[in-house]
Amino acid sequence: MAQSKHEAIERNVFLMIVLTLLAVSVGGLVEIVPLFFQTSTTTAVDEKGNALDVQPYDALRLAGRDIYIREGCYNCHSQMIRPFRAETERYGHYSVAGEFIYDHPFQWGSKRTGPDLARVGARYSDEWHRVHLINPRDVVPESNMPAYSWLDRPLNAPDIGARMKTLAFLGVPYTDADIANAPAAVANKTELDAVVAYLQGLGLALRNVR
Ligand code: HEC
Repeated sequence: MAQSKHEAIERNVFLMIVLTLLAVSVGGLVEIVPLFFQTSTTTAVDEKGNALDVQPYDALRLAGRDIYIREGCYNCHSQMIRPFRAETERYGHYSVAGEFIYDHPFQWGSKRTGPDLARVGARYSDEWHRVHLINPRDVVPESNMPAYSWLDRPLNAPDIGARMKTLAFLGVPYTDADIANAPAAVANKTELDAVVAYLQGLGLALRNVR
């Protein structure tokens, strides 16, 4: 009996690999490419199309975001609530793409040694965060989060304007005035001020439309 075409593929590992890669690439592109053009993923709207009040990070929050990345907080904390009951009961409304349009890079993550932080904004007082970051055990005795005691030092961000310019290049709508005023906005602040400002703004845009 003549060899079927399918058999020919299965008997040739190299051909099989090439065709598998081709199938996976086409499948991937069909799923991924439209996301760059859909309003639901490229504009600040929720899943029903309601406008969200998503603002670019101001200078202090941006500095805080950069410290969050520097300290590797994302190794233990995700910032994406999945649309499952167990998650929404605990953390609040599930995350929607429009909330993250100014995040470069995203801090979604998937590792959760600690809780998700996507909607931690306004959940605690600034003072709670300060105490918690300097020594988590002072407010949560059973916590195994590391102490970030060094954050209570002056914020040194001479390049904050340049960082905002880079984000503007990527499409974040900073004005020239935002960039010009950035150094003044971070002057005389501590790293702790910046991280707390960052955390306190997380997830509010969507919460406020409900
Ligand atoms: C080694 C893992 C780990 C790292 C790294 C880590 N955390 Fe945590 N974090 C936890 C754990 C566990 C908890 C839960 C216990 C607690 O509240 O301290 C937590 C709790 C929190 C909470 C309270 C969340 C809530 O909803 O109650 C905040 C805010 C937080 N972390 C911020 C940060 C920030 C900012 C950083 C980086 C500077 C960071 N964490 C780094 C493990 C970590």
